[in-house]
Amino acid sequence: VDLNKLAQRREMHWFGTAADIPNTAETTDAAYLKVLRKNFGEVTPANAMKFMYTEPEQNVFNFTAGDEFLEIAGRHGAQIRCHNLVWASQLSDFVTSKTWTKEALTSVMKNHIYKTVQHFGKRCYSWDVVNEAINGDGSFSSSVWYNTIGEDYFYLAFKFAQDALAEIGAHDVKLYYNDYGIENQGVKSSTVLQLVKNLRSRGIRIDGVGLESHFIVGETPSLADQVATKRAYIEAGLEVAITELDIRFAQVPYYTPAVQKQQAQDYYTSVESCLNVGPRCIGVVVWDFDDAYSWVPGTFAGQGGACLFNNTLEAKPAFFAVAEAL
Ligand code: XIL
Repeated sequence: VDLNKLAQRREMHWFGTAADIPNTAETTDAAYLKVLRKNFGEVTPANAMKFMYTEPEQNVFNFTAGDEFLEIAGRHGAQIRCHNLVWASQLSDFVTSKTWTKEALTSVMKNHIYKTVQHFGKRCYSWDVVNEAINGDGSFSSSVWYNTIGEDYFYLAFKFAQDALAEIGAHDVKLYYNDYGIENQGVKSSTVLQLVKNLRSRGIRIDGVGLESHFIVGETPSLADQVATKRAYIEAGLEVAITELDIRFAQVPYYTPAVQKQQAQDYYTSVESCLNVGPRCIGVVVWDFDDAYSWVPGTFAGQGGACLFNNTLEAKPAFFAVAEAL
């Protein structure tokens, strides 16, 4: 089976994955790349287009990693969700190591957005313009952007992205807000919905909301909850996508049949929720497909086993469950 082909038959744009190319051994791992090219019609750069790589020094841009990513990960014609422009993390030292005035930091943000989106241009299906800006309680998260510019940074980021793309005639590149913890009904998802509506009422373009969907096995939001949440965004006029799906084990074992079965069920539920809301849920992206390259063990100590393939690149029950859902 080919997950992308199955997804397209169900009116999705694609079934995708993140890949950490060119930063890791994925770049030259022939077996890995073979599975990538067979199954995934969209690839998201796990790191290559982030601020610290694209603008290491103020106004000194380096798009080598991003261009290599597009060359290697996109060679089979995959579409690309470009990721990301404005986030609290993985910033360059020049941004975080000094105190800025609101005006000076706004012009740093503007310059970064203009240069980056204009460089990659129409090669991006979409940009995650603002990433992970809201806390669980609905307040804005602390970041150099919020702490210096205030709530306006959120609106300005979209405005700059919209204007920069218009300047090069790339009106079709979609603008997304991307976050985790907004896959279920609650304070965070309703706050994000409100923010997006406010943005639109100010005449600013936003096309989509990315629901990261970093879940824990056995604690995945229910089908009804995931469906209702996606519907609320769609009813507000947005498209949605599952952008970073992985479902990790909080502790060992990762590979016994019993726990694998629950993980498969949780993957099925998440993919099914996207299909259930119709073609305005445009696709599902997993945050890498292979346990050997997953970001989970490096970020959550003792946790892992989150992907569709195990660490020797064998398809797990979760893979077959996704194929079945599709
Ligand atoms: C992660 C990458 O996978 C890691 O390699 C990196 O060290 C940290 O960032 N939410 C996001 C992604 O939006 O950019 C993050 O990616 C995972 C969580």
